[in-house]
Amino acid sequence: MPQTIAVLDFGSQYTQVIARRIRECEVYSKIYHYTTSAEELKRDGVIGIILSGGPSSVFAKNAPIPDEKLFQLGVPVLGICYGIQLMGRLLGGAVAKSTHREYGHGTLSITKPGRLFAKLPRKLRVWNSHGDKLTEMPPGFSAIGTTDNSPYAVIEDRKRDFYGIQFHPEVFHTERGVDVIRNFLLNVCGAKQDWTTKDYINHSVAEIRKIVGKSRVILGLSGGVDSSVAAALIHKAIGKQLTCVFVDNGLLRKGEREAVEKLYGDHFHIDLRVVDASKLFLRRLKGVDEPEQKRKIIGRTFVAVFEKSLKSIGHADFLAQGTLYPDVIESVAIAGNPAALIKSHHNVGGLPERMKLKLLEPLRELFKDEVRAVGAALGLPKEVVWRQPFPGPGLGVRVLGEITKDKLEVLREADAILVEEMKKTGLYWKVWQSFCVFLPVKSVGVVGDERNYSWVIAVRVVESIDAMTADWARLPYDLLQHISNRITNEVREVSRVVLDISSKPPATIEWE
Ligand code: XMP
Repeated sequence: MPQTIAVLDFGSQYTQVIARRIRECEVYSKIYHYTTSAEELKRDGVIGIILSGGPSSVFAKNAPIPDEKLFQLGVPVLGICYGIQLMGRLLGGAVAKSTHREYGHGTLSITKPGRLFAKLPRKLRVWNSHGDKLTEMPPGFSAIGTTDNSPYAVIEDRKRDFYGIQFHPEVFHTERGVDVIRNFLLNVCGAKQDWTTKDYINHSVAEIRKIVGKSRVILGLSGGVDSSVAAALIHKAIGKQLTCVFVDNGLLRKGEREAVEKLYGDHFHIDLRVVDASKLFLRRLKGVDEPEQKRKIIGRTFVAVFEKSLKSIGHADFLAQGTLYPDVIESVAIAGNPAALIKSHHNVGGLPERMKLKLLEPLRELFKDEVRAVGAALGLPKEVVWRQPFPGPGLGVRVLGEITKDKLEVLREADAILVEEMKKTGLYWKVWQSFCVFLPVKSVGVVGDERNYSWVIAVRVVESIDAMTADWARLPYDLLQHISNRITNEVREVSRVVLDISSKPPATIEWE
């Protein structure tokens, strides 16, 4: 077993982010409920403890209080935000109740770097989000960092190796925050860096085997990054006990189904069931042109097809999903009461409960970039690991208005040309998404001496960090000309190519 850092969870939405930062430092950590006894932590051989932040006030009636004996274990403790207030309250300092939360950026001045701020600048921009604050240090502590609002922004007791930080070192907005955490792990706790992606995979494989035993697992494969990595990981753990179902809804891009069959069937030798339901989807979508209605039909049909396919596969105990931590956090209710401490294990975007399957979500603690690293280490190709996002309803929301087989065919050909050219220049990997949209508009063109009257294709290429906002990518004119030429020459039914130069907001990335 690797050395373990315990993260005691007091209900902060950032607890998993702390764990993620620890992984970034290649150290193993385990999240424990705040009620975990010091004895259990000792049994687990933890070499350091981090007290997370939390939504509560130390003055609240049901304030979450840990086992005080953890301060007698002889291991270093780092209290973050609520954690420092707890240290203040439990170790003999004083905490003042605040009427308003201090929220946002502040400047931290380090007066004495010590081991925690070794090799870091004396001034750092930090992120605050707290109500109460420490007004008197517990005996044995001294202040080593201040902010405008607090003379005790960072405190240390060098003798016992106890540290308290008022701000959040784990969040992205805190400058060099990960280095502060690394210093705690390596300089203070003396942790070895023995937790790499490979170790993570091995540990995960063992866990999956333990959970699943001899049972059968079903996974709905979409071809996207998350379900692909989940499939590869679970397959490594349990091989033929895993069955993957890939539903061809007739709204896939060119060659997509074949690529899935080749990779998972031929390469990984996964038990892959491809269900061709394209006719059913198209039949149900006939005559429907309203975007939300289309989405609903596609969603409902998917569930029905998937459910039916499960029946034909036979008994299974687990349904695996490629749920990531950012999906989980959206489903966790954060409120100022102790109930917020018990994270709800929602079936995120899952299938109806009547299927009576247990959920297996091996990626639920990971963030997207970590999932990509796991995928790459499992041997998934770049095309899968760095695949652009693709909406669940597929080309269904990229053929505007009513969907027909012919329109889909035209869009597929045009889109394949765009993707091919984007990959050739390497820009495909740099932008957020690049795709074509079929516009149900006819426009006049000339081919040779003949006048033709055919469809219009829009090219949509955007840059984004998180899809919440996006800007259209400034592609080189020569590349755009080449793409347009190829589409109008090679796809007979297209007479015109237009470029979408709208940002989000006010436009959305997809057209429907
Ligand atoms: P919009 O169009 O809202 O898209 O700016 C933001 C991101 O979400 C993707 N998207 C979807 N993904 N089901 C999905 O799974 C959907 O119905 C859906 N609609 C949009 C879109 O591709 C972009 O990355």
